[in-house]
Amino acid sequence: MSTEQVSEVIKSNNIKCPECKGALGDVYEFNLMFKTSIGPGGKRAGYLRPETAQGMFVDFPRLVKFYRDHLPFGATQIGKSYRNEISPRQGVIRLREFTQAEAEIFIDPRIKTHPNFTEIADMELTLYSQEGQDTGKSEKTTLRVAVQKGTIAHEFLAYCIARTCQYLLRVGVSPDKLRFRQHMKDEMAHYAADCWDAEILSDRFGWVETVGIADRTDYDLKAHAKQSETELTVYIPYDKPKTITRIAIKPDMGVLGPRFKGKAGKIVSALKDMKLEDLTGDFIELTIDDEKIKIEKELVNVESVTEELHGENIVPHVIEPSFGIDRIIYSLLEHAYSEEEVEEEGKKETRIILSLPPEVAPVQAAVLPLLTREELIKPAREISESLRKKGILTGFDDSGTIGRRYRRNDEIGTPYSITIDYQTLDDGTVTIRDRDSMKQVRAQVSEIAGNIYDLLYSGKPFEDAGTIV
Ligand code: GLY
Repeated sequence: MSTEQVSEVIKSNNIKCPECKGALGDVYEFNLMFKTSIGPGGKRAGYLRPETAQGMFVDFPRLVKFYRDHLPFGATQIGKSYRNEISPRQGVIRLREFTQAEAEIFIDPRIKTHPNFTEIADMELTLYSQEGQDTGKSEKTTLRVAVQKGTIAHEFLAYCIARTCQYLLRVGVSPDKLRFRQHMKDEMAHYAADCWDAEILSDRFGWVETVGIADRTDYDLKAHAKQSETELTVYIPYDKPKTITRIAIKPDMGVLGPRFKGKAGKIVSALKDMKLEDLTGDFIELTIDDEKIKIEKELVNVESVTEELHGENIVPHVIEPSFGIDRIIYSLLEHAYSEEEVEEEGKKETRIILSLPPEVAPVQAAVLPLLTREELIKPAREISESLRKKGILTGFDDSGTIGRRYRRNDEIGTPYSITIDYQTLDDGTVTIRDRDSMKQVRAQVSEIAGNIYDLLYSGKPFEDAGTIV
């Protein structure tokens, strides 16, 4: 129906809004993509991309060359995407301009086993499948069982779900607030055969979709191939050549060439694509560039040919993990945030802690000279420099009481604070304070950069970083 016809049906049946029971307005076309114009004069229409994905599909011919025709291969991209959201609310959860990180993994559709599946097969995660949603139940299960039972369609999809899960946990999502929900059949995107969302539980917004992992099949490559009239395939050689006998359609070029001139090429290729059963009757009818063309059947010979095939061209399928970066960052902040009552110099106060994992903390180590005296500032600057040289994100804070400075760093998620005091000048040691436990150790200045690095990246227990004080 046209928009006018739909409006008419709504009016004549007195259909109301199912939510608020209010009157419905006229129906109109709405495009989720932002329209703009390209170049001077503004005559060419363009659209801001609603996903980063398509650039990688357009790059397919280069990617095939880069990977020397070997499937599977992939490309990743991070960047802005734009959608004309009707209700851009809830902070960074629904933005009209947002950051996506996407991977397009091109696979051979006949081989959906993953070479590294055994690495992740026994990982247990919470799945909320289509069946589970029908009964309102999610279940904890291993990926091995989920693939065996057919809950997750194949190993490639399961592998991407596993890696997504590992990534989200590593950056700081709480494991008990993470689940993977399968799209119901009626919510699946037009390009997807199957799709699982990583959903993160937010205190404010409930379960929020943060990553979509879709099996996009060959939908995109076929659509681009059709529009650009370019073959987007990968040549897969056979282990052993295959001998086949097939019917070949051979048009008589001696007659068709002079008769159809510029159009002859298109006519010949349309004829070659025909099937034997299309060639009944005395004439063959074709439509080329909207023109109907009639060709006598005797101008087309049909022969049986035997040939040796060494491989075939296939259109790969695509598995796409698509990460909504703003939503992930929001979830990290919410999950990492906590408050506790502490006593400071006899006074009770609230300590705010952002327990970010060291790898994502914007400041990984804060250097705090106890007093703003040159004899403490100088070694503090030297320590900062040595940390920065090691690639550690380092803050320097010399204002206010040391307690205030600890609080400030707890609040922005700095995992370790290093205090330089007068004992430093005597014995070459500093204190390192752990954000979460507030424990302190005394450690050597000479080894400080390596020591902090190991705490941040090598899982070194805090107690091993020095002498507990
Ligand atoms: N590329 C998938 C999405 O943007 O939802």
